[in-house]
Amino acid sequence: MSPNSEKQIILITGATAGIGFDTAVLLASSSPSNHVIMGARNATKAEAKVKEVQAKNPKGTVSWIELDVDSDASIEAAAKKLEQDFGRIHILINNAGVCPEPASGSPDTSREFLRATFETNVYGPTLLTQALLPLIKASKSAKVINVTSGLGSISMFNADLDASSVLHYFKDVQGIGYRMSKSALNMLSAWQQYQLRDTAVKVWAYCPGYVVTDLGGDREEREKMGLESSETSAQGILDIVEGKRDAEKGGFVTKRGGSYPW
Ligand SMILES: NC(=O)c1ccc[n+]([C@@H]2O[C@H](COP(=O)([O-])OP(=O)(O)OC[C@H]3O[C@@H](n4cnc5c(N)ncnc54)[C@H](OP(=O)(O)O)[C@@H]3O)[C@@H](O)[C@H]2O)c1
Repeated sequence: MSPNSEKQIILITGATAGIGFDTAVLLASSSPSNHVIMGARNATKAEAKVKEVQAKNPKGTVSWIELDVDSDASIEAAAKKLEQDFGRIHILINNAGVCPEPASGSPDTSREFLRATFETNVYGPTLLTQALLPLIKASKSAKVINVTSGLGSISMFNADLDASSVLHYFKDVQGIGYRMSKSALNMLSAWQQYQLRDTAVKVWAYCPGYVVTDLGGDREEREKMGLESSETSAQGILDIVEGKRDAEKGGFVTKRGGSYPW
């Protein structure tokens, strides 16, 4: 695609599964002006997933780019290719994330485990956004959407709850590495918005809700719990992309118009 194209250029990291894939489908389908670039770690999977989107006859267009957010070399190569191919990015969706299971018998507070979680959930979006800043600024009114989790909210964790409150969920869910990584991502979002305050770039920390995906390897458990589809998470991202949440820029927002305390 020519860098002079009028298309709205959208990059989604971790777009070959779960929320990222549903978001790619929805954004490609929602407007002929959208060009969705699916960030992927694996070429075979990426090609199959691009075909799956195209088979839905979307109004917009779709392509993929190799992008492992744990790797500086991959980020650098992707930034270079995006610069050559598109020259700007209108929407960056930092969606790639992990919630790894500790090896049997080992604690989820081992250095290796914590580091793996932070590599993808924190260092990845920090370094990728930094590398893409010239392209983001080149689009004049760009949006950065950091896909976080309510589990990263320190205020909700500290809330004084009565025994019947469903919010006990927030205290009892295990996985301190994941929780800490999302708190850090929230700080990144607030910091990015502050750094970009003199530009037209808008940043959100977006919680997609607790939905059925392979995250943490517990799809079956999630299905049994009757959780919502990840398509609902994609809809929340579309709302931000379409400008419906512009007034909440810099915020920690949820789907369907809600927000969380930091
Ligand atoms: N599902 C939920 O209930 C929920 C709730 C709150 C927040 N979130 C957040 O939503 C985001 C998406 O999660 P999901 O539930 O859709 O998970 P998922 O189904 O496991 O998908 C995660 C995606 O991230 C990709 N990924 C993982 N590590 C990567 C890396 N180093 N570089 C690039 N891509 C990488 C995966 O790639 P492969 O396809 O190659 O495996 C996959 O496409 C995450 O940030 C997660 O923390 C999810």
